[in-house]
Amino acid sequence: MDIRYPPPYDLFSPAFKRDPFPTFAHMRQHAPIYRHIAPNGIAIWYITRYEDVAAVLKDERFVKNIFNALPASRWPHAPHAHNLLQLINRNMLFADPPDHTRLRALVNQAFTPRRAAQMVPRIQAIAGDLLDQVAAQRKMDLIEAYAFPLPLRVITELLGIPAADQAQMRFWSQAIIAAGSHGITYSQRKQRIKALVDYLSALFTARRAQPQDDLITALVQAEQAGDRLTETELSSMVALLLVTGHETTVNLIGNGAYTLLTHPHQRALAQANPALLETGIDELLRFDGPVETSTTRWARQDVLFHGHQIQRGDVVRVVLASANRDPAQFDQPDDCCLQRADNRHLAFGLGIHYCLGAPLARLEGQIALQTLFQRFPDIRLPSSASLSWRSGVLFRGLKQLPLLW
Ligand code: HEM
Repeated sequence: MDIRYPPPYDLFSPAFKRDPFPTFAHMRQHAPIYRHIAPNGIAIWYITRYEDVAAVLKDERFVKNIFNALPASRWPHAPHAHNLLQLINRNMLFADPPDHTRLRALVNQAFTPRRAAQMVPRIQAIAGDLLDQVAAQRKMDLIEAYAFPLPLRVITELLGIPAADQAQMRFWSQAIIAAGSHGITYSQRKQRIKALVDYLSALFTARRAQPQDDLITALVQAEQAGDRLTETELSSMVALLLVTGHETTVNLIGNGAYTLLTHPHQRALAQANPALLETGIDELLRFDGPVETSTTRWARQDVLFHGHQIQRGDVVRVVLASANRDPAQFDQPDDCCLQRADNRHLAFGLGIHYCLGAPLARLEGQIALQTLFQRFPDIRLPSSASLSWRSGVLFRGLKQLPLLW
């Protein structure tokens, strides 16, 4: 088949990040399976249609662990960078079965819908407490004062990381997600990741000596019980939960608040009937979700995909934000409608890597937004607000969201 590609799409520019949806619509129509050659020579395929995104996420020929796709001689990272990542990347998100199955089984029970529901009073208390701290100011940056600290407190409490170390955790966790982004050098990144690993190692020693009722203790005990978890896997697991536990949910609270503030009719519905957000949170996830593009998948073998020859070792990225606006799947996809029925969005992914924390994230988003609009019913964007979005293809979130009430 003769396949022609349109001129390159710039998926990194600030203008694109401000509103990526017209570009995604163009890609779905003209280049739904789009090949980009990265500066290091690796081919990256961006998949933008709902049906294809779902198919890739369920296709075991696309793997998460580079070891299963490429010989070491073809790895895109220099060996020292690779070793650094291995310190922290021995986790389920970058593993394939059987390792993936084993690692995920160790924490599944801690993230069931039932366990998440038990956390409602605590999430509610944290939301109330954070809003108490800013109430008298009559203004805040929602991201800094509310959307970041809320999920960070929830996940650190669940893990058992002392409250005094939370700010430090956020600093270190940013180094983990900083891959490929500007503003942090390789040696700074290395230093921070090593510092996090050392910190966690000391915490594991403390929990071995004095067990507590927290997830880190449960994982340390699993490690001690036999060969189910190595020390590197243990720190990688905790780092993964720490990062995924807050770096995404911050965007659900931020993007969700922004969507309601800019859709007055939907906001009025949610304020009149806060219970609407119990299901409406999924519409906010679909409409402008926290994860724009899934994490990297590698072709384990040559794959002919709708006539496109994807070669072994090529990177495949599915664009969740595009799939969630595909008119072939959703009626009026560019409208936000909290009462939308049949909303099978892909904001949490699909298949074996489907988000472990989805029940918890939904509850955090729902409670955070309900509490915000109940507490400050007239909350609004200042007329002069100019907004900018986090860079990179992975996340979709605001850097700041200044609000007044
Ligand atoms: C609204 C917030 C969140 C969103 C939109 C989100 C989204 C996602 C997505 C799309 C994936 C799959 C990535 C891929 O296949 O490439 C994923 C995986 C994962 N998420 Fe979330 N996430 C959120 C919150 C959370 C929370 C609160 C936790 C709690 C710890 C969490 C833990 C995880 C874990 C551990 C994985 C890896 C699962 C696996 O590989 O089997 N996430 N998430």
